[in-house]
Amino acid sequence: MGRCRSLLFSQQLTGTWKNLPRERCGSPRSPNLAELPSKNIMSTITEKLQAVDARIDAAAKAAGRARGDVTLLAVSKTFPAAAVLEAAAAGQRAFGENYLQEALEKIEAVAKALPGVKLDWHFIGPIQSNKTRPIAAAFDWVHTVDRLKVAQRLSEQRAAEQEPLNICLQVNISGEASKSGAAPDEVLALARQVALLPRLRLRGLMAIPEPHDDYAQQRAAFAQLRALAERLRADGIALDTLSMGMSADLDAAIAEGATIVRVGSAIFGARDYA
Ligand SMILES: Cc1ncc(COP(=O)(O)O)c(C=O)c1O
Repeated sequence: MGRCRSLLFSQQLTGTWKNLPRERCGSPRSPNLAELPSKNIMSTITEKLQAVDARIDAAAKAAGRARGDVTLLAVSKTFPAAAVLEAAAAGQRAFGENYLQEALEKIEAVAKALPGVKLDWHFIGPIQSNKTRPIAAAFDWVHTVDRLKVAQRLSEQRAAEQEPLNICLQVNISGEASKSGAAPDEVLALARQVALLPRLRLRGLMAIPEPHDDYAQQRAAFAQLRALAERLRADGIALDTLSMGMSADLDAAIAEGATIVRVGSAIFGARDYA
């Protein structure tokens, strides 16, 4: 990108281009970036949320679906409570977390900062069966149930005064050896058993397919999850949720019926695991 175009691009990102003299582009003097107002060139969480919302809206419209049929789950893992607070101030209510200890601290900090504001917390990380108690206590949803033992413990440990815990069964849809999730041919039997557990509400299926750049390949994996959910419904299991689609492929997921898209980096930026 030429220097002048790159200046214009950064001005568009910061929303400051209107205030700058046009003749600067093409003038013999090189643009001095230090003269730009100090607002960060990266757009804010609020702006990124708006951009993701527009993507969801466009994908839903293209699929003949209503925007309201798709919930945006903001994946805040590795980001601080302050990032959640900024997203919450912009109206975001559902947040996804993968790491239990980090999540518990964040949930507490956010609750203190926003008394009276109800956020929905979704656990979307791998579950160790000896760590189910705090998950059952602190979360509204768990997307990553892939074996009966974990489901039974979550049901036993969910307090009577809480709403039943919303559950998605994670399916290893691409059959990757390294991925968690029940094998597709095990899911029906698992769903039948989970549906009977008293303190759980089985809502649907979740998958993290193998990443593909190609839209048609992205859709094909999501179509498999959708077909599996239809098989379960045909068996009499009531499901209303397909949790699928992330920053790179949420559009394809919505085309295949996603009702929850789990989006991290497109909202909060690149994650730093250091
Ligand atoms: C289960 C799950 N869903 C969604 C996401 C969000 O991914 P992205 O940042 O690509 O949107 C993550 C991030 O690691 C994840 O682990």
